[in-house]
Amino acid sequence: MTVSSALPALHADVQPGKPPLLRVESAVDPQAIRAFVAEHGSLLIRGLGLRDAADAERVFRQLGHLMTEREAFAPRERYAQGVYSASKWPPNQQMCMHHELSYALGVPNLMLFACVVPSASGGATPVADAAAVLEALPPELVERFERLGWLLIRNYNDEIGASLADAFGTDDRNAIESYCRANAIDFEWHESGLRTRQRRNAVVRHPRTGRRCWFNQIAFLSEWTMAVELREYLLDVYRADGLPFNTAFGDGEPIGPDVFQVINDVYEAHTVREPWQAGDLLVVDNLRAAHGREAFEGPREVVVALAE
Ligand SMILES: [Fe+2]
Repeated sequence: MTVSSALPALHADVQPGKPPLLRVESAVDPQAIRAFVAEHGSLLIRGLGLRDAADAERVFRQLGHLMTEREAFAPRERYAQGVYSASKWPPNQQMCMHHELSYALGVPNLMLFACVVPSASGGATPVADAAAVLEALPPELVERFERLGWLLIRNYNDEIGASLADAFGTDDRNAIESYCRANAIDFEWHESGLRTRQRRNAVVRHPRTGRRCWFNQIAFLSEWTMAVELREYLLDVYRADGLPFNTAFGDGEPIGPDVFQVINDVYEAHTVREPWQAGDLLVVDNLRAAHGREAFEGPREVVVALAE
C-alpha cells in the first residue's frame, strides 16, 4: 500500500479569496495535512483550541521536525526549541509576501502558525499560491530571474536589523565564517560589521508535486519594500551598499521599483486571507505558497515554527 492511498481525504471548505478552511473537533492525520498543503498551498484548521505556546508546540511537533531558525531578517522570541513568536516587525507596516528562508540552503518545507491572541483589527497572515504567481508574472521577467537567479545582500551592524547573534546563533567570527562557507554565502568584514552576499534560484520545482513555484524574497527584502522616508533615511546613513538588506538580479544589476511593483501586484491578485480567530492553526507549504502579515492594532500573539 502506498502512503498516498492510505491518506484520508480532507474536506476543507474552499471559498474565493480565502485559504481552505477545515473545521475539526479532534486531531487530523499529519500526513494528510502535508499532502493537502502541497497541493493547495495552505490550510487553516479551526477547532483545535490552541490556547498558548505549549498547545501550539504539541501540535507543531506532530506535523514535522521543527527547525532552528538561522539567517533571520528580524528577531523572534523563542518559546522552546524550534518554537518562536512572530517576527518583530512594526505593527503598522504590512510584511510583503515571502517564502521563509528562501535565501537559505536549508529551507523549511512547512510554516506553522498558531493564533493565541488575535489582534483587534488587521493582523491576518495572508497567503498566495506560488505556482499561480509564477504563471501570472511577465514571462520576460521570470526568464531573466531564472537565468540569473537573485542576490540577497545583507549588512549586519549594531544599530539596526537582526544582530549577528539573531541571524547566526552566535557572534563568534570563526563560527559565522564557517557557517557562511558551508552555506554558499560570500562575506566580508567591515569596520561597522559584516556584509554578506548570496545568490539563489528564483524558481524552484516542488519536490512532491513537480509544480514550478516562484520562490524567493526578491520583493520583500528589496529596498523598495521600505516606507519612502525610512528608505531615504537609511540610504543617507548607510549608503546604498550598506542597507540592512537588499536584493538584486543574480548578476548584481539593481532591481528597480517597477519590478518590485509588478511582483507585489501579482502577489496581491493571488492573495487569500482569513482573519485569525483564537485557537486557529495555519499550515503553509513554504514552497507552494508565500505568506505575509497584515498591519494590525492591539495585542497579537501568533506562535510560529519552521518545519522540515
Ligand atoms: Fe514569514
